[in-house]
Amino acid sequence: MTLSTKHLLSIGDLEPQDILNLVARAAELKAGWLSGYRPRPLNDKTVALIFQKASTRTRVSFEVGTRQLGGTSLFMTDRDSQLGRSEPLRDTARVLSRYVDAMVVRTFGQEILSELAAYASIPVINALSDSSHPCQVLSDLLTVRERRGRIEGLAYAWIGDGNNMAHSWLEAAGHLGLDLRLACPAGFDPDPRVVEVARARGGRILLTRDPRQAAAGADVLNTDVWASMGQEGEADQRRQAFAGFTVDAGLLALAAPGALVLHCLPAHRGEEISDEVLEGPQSVVWQQAENRLHMQKAIMEALIG
Ligand code: CP
Ligand code: NVA
Repeated sequence: MTLSTKHLLSIGDLEPQDILNLVARAAELKAGWLSGYRPRPLNDKTVALIFQKASTRTRVSFEVGTRQLGGTSLFMTDRDSQLGRSEPLRDTARVLSRYVDAMVVRTFGQEILSELAAYASIPVINALSDSSHPCQVLSDLLTVRERRGRIEGLAYAWIGDGNNMAHSWLEAAGHLGLDLRLACPAGFDPDPRVVEVARARGGRILLTRDPRQAAAGADVLNTDVWASMGQEGEADQRRQAFAGFTVDAGLLALAAPGALVLHCLPAHRGEEISDEVLEGPQSVVWQQAENRLHMQKAIMEALIG
C-alpha cells in the first residue's frame, strides 16, 4: 500500500481512502503478527526518532514497530543533538536525509515539521505537535472499527480541550464525514480554521459549551488532558476553566448504551476522566494503546517500506 502523500504531518495530508487503507492494513498486520506473518519492509532501513517532548506509547510503538518490520531505529532528543544548540532545522533535515530513511518527530509548532519536510528528502512523520497528533487518531479509528465494526455512521463526542488531539479528530471527521460534537470551555475551542475545513469537507461538526449536549447519545466519548505538554504552567488555571468537563459516570450515562470511552493517555484521573470510567467496562484505552504499535507499522510500511 502507498499513500497519496510523502510525509504524514497531519490527517489533512491524507486522502480519505488513505485513512481507510491504513486502518485496514494495521488490522491485517495486527492479526498477522499473532499468526506468524512477519513482513520486513524496513529491512536495511533506519528510522530516526527525534523527540522534543516526553513520550511512552509513541516512542516505544515506533521503536518496536521498526524492529518488527526488520529495521533499526535511533532515538534523539534536543539534549544530546545539535538541535538543542540551535543548529537550523533545515540543516538537520538535509544531514539526516543522508543517513536515515525517515524521521519521526515529536515537537512543538507544526511549522517545525513543515520546515523539516520541506528540506528532507525522506518521509517526515508527525509523532505529535502542539496542533495535531495524526498517528494517535489513525490508531483510534482502528480501535473504533474493531469494537463497532465500522467508523462511519457513529456519533463521536470530544469533551475537553480543543487541542492537538481534537484537531486531528476534526480532520478525520472532515475526511470521513463523521458526526463529531466537541464540548470545550470558552477560550479552549479548537482552531476555527480546522473546524471550517472539517465542515467544508463534509464533517458534521457541533461545537458546544455543554458536555452533556455533546455526550447525549454518543457512541464514542473521547477526552484528553486539560494541560498538554508545554502547558504545565497553566495547569491550575485550566483546572478551574475545565470544571464540569470530567468524563465521569454521570456523563457516560447520557451516551448511547455501551458507548466506548477513548483516552489517548497519559490520563489524569479525577481531572478529565474519573478513575471509575477509565477503569470501567466501557473504557477501551488499553486496546487503544496497543493499537498504536500496529498503526505505526502500517504508516511506516506505507511511507518507508
Ligand atoms: N498517547 C501518546 O501519544 O502517548 P505518549 O505521550 O506516551 O507517546
Ligand atoms: N494533548 C496531549 C496529548 C498527549 C499524548 C499533549 O499534547 O500533551
